[in-house]
Amino acid sequence: MIGVFDSGIGGLSVLMPVRRLLGDADILYLADRGWGPYGERSLEDVRARVDLVASHLISQGARMVVVACHTASAAALTTLRARHPDVAFVGMEPALKPAAAASRKRRVGVLATEATFQSELFASVVDRFGTNVAVIARACRGWAAAVEEGHLDGPEVEAMVGEHVVPLLAHRVDTIVLGCTHYPFLAPVIRRIAGPDIEIVDPADAVARQVARVAGGLGPEVGRGRALRFQVTGAPTGVAELVERLTGWRIDVEGVRVGPPLGPVPSDP
Ligand code: DGL
Repeated sequence: MIGVFDSGIGGLSVLMPVRRLLGDADILYLADRGWGPYGERSLEDVRARVDLVASHLISQGARMVVVACHTASAAALTTLRARHPDVAFVGMEPALKPAAAASRKRRVGVLATEATFQSELFASVVDRFGTNVAVIARACRGWAAAVEEGHLDGPEVEAMVGEHVVPLLAHRVDTIVLGCTHYPFLAPVIRRIAGPDIEIVDPADAVARQVARVAGGLGPEVGRGRALRFQVTGAPTGVAELVERLTGWRIDVEGVRVGPPLGPVPSDP
């Protein structure tokens, strides 16, 4: 079985191409909504939380875990691989490499969470792929929470998205990286504000291809059956409807508890 998780339903932007490629895999998705958004917490807190979530998926039978969240990958991917050497992990990193290759003006904007930008992973991505381009980073507080609430369009969402996309345009970027798996669900608004000439880079398809390659290597161990189990921490109300709206899938939502309840997300400084 393949375990997939995110702080919420953002990881569906990765799960959709995964299911297109691996329609017959047995998948358990965990939306950690009781604890999200991750991106506004410290990397240490996210690492501790992600450790519990991954252990939960492994205890349910996952032989492979897809960390369908940039923040969780930035905080914990290295630790997870060291802790669970028998499990295959696939994670995310901001797609600066394809963005730098695509940018003719050599100016790239990256939209991601505060925690992702604070991580060593992001620093290493910039070291590896950002040396010949100007990288303009914008931490998009509140975007993941808006998507979780199903706020994908309208004047308030437009204002929220414009707050970060307009400054990128002022910096004359021609390429924008979606560095959080929730943001593809805001892509129509981002596109409307950015205009038709800006390249928007979403790594989901490339990550899905990597998932398929790794799953192929594991063979029948990843399971068969076209089954998608969908678990959620926190209140499950409205989640099935939101998933159907975002993906077209009709699913049953299973409420689960993973670890102890946690404190509130720190408020704005
Ligand atoms: N979807 C997540 C990411 O890719 C995290 C959003 C959040 O929980 O803040 O970074």
